[in-house]
Amino acid sequence: MVSGTARYDGHSQWYDQRYGPGHPPAEELAFLREALGSGHGQVCVDLACGTGRCAQVIAEAGYRSAGFDISADQLRFARRRLGAVARADICLLPVRNESVPAVVGMFFHTDLEDFGAVLRQVARCLRPGGRFIYAGLHPCFLGPFVNRMSEADEQRLEFLPGYGHVGWANRGSGDGTGLGGRVGFHHKTLASFLGAIASSGLRIRHVREFSGGGVVLPRHIGLVAEN
Ligand SMILES: C[S@@+](CC[C@H](N)C(=O)[O-])C[C@H]1O[C@@H](n2cnc3c(N)ncnc32)[C@H](O)[C@@H]1O
Repeated sequence: MVSGTARYDGHSQWYDQRYGPGHPPAEELAFLREALGSGHGQVCVDLACGTGRCAQVIAEAGYRSAGFDISADQLRFARRRLGAVARADICLLPVRNESVPAVVGMFFHTDLEDFGAVLRQVARCLRPGGRFIYAGLHPCFLGPFVNRMSEADEQRLEFLPGYGHVGWANRGSGDGTGLGGRVGFHHKTLASFLGAIASSGLRIRHVREFSGGGVVLPRHIGLVAEN
């Protein structure tokens, strides 16, 4: 069932050239690979799979991938890379209860309002002991309240007011990529990001911070949670 907004439709060619499998976030994919262990042919759900950037890592770990995304345009690319794809709102994930051992997701919590709804779906469809592995933008260090465009030259960062405002941002993510300007950027504080995980019933087992190209502070965060 699809009820959300396909904000990426019309931007997928651009997105794939910039963020597709040819431009892997190396640290984050290595984290994903390590946390996935060995799949032995079981299914791994790729939430908000986009154009299929996680496909190779999921396959290398020995899982069969099933990707879900709300954007038909993104799925045009993903279906060449993932084992199976379906158009769906991940807040209403069409996966049976307690049916999968692993769910992964990358860089989508700033693309929707209700991260908690997604996590409740993850907790519902993971088997007992199953793993959720996520990597995304760091809530504290990327957002409309900080300009990350010139830190390499200046070796400093300037933070502006606004970190505490949860919601759609006018100014994008502050990283100069232009993605937020195209598709929107939903800022979450660290408390709202972690609170959504805690209230889903998933238990966080590991947390990692990634430079993501940042030289002053990390840009990305990753975590492994179990149900
Ligand atoms: C920044 S992209 C990340 C894609 C991919 N995970 C990656 O790392 O390249 C965010 C993705 O979230 C998808 N998305 C946003 N809201 C969604 C929703 N409610 N249900 C399913 N997909 C959604 C978008 O269509 C987009 O493909």
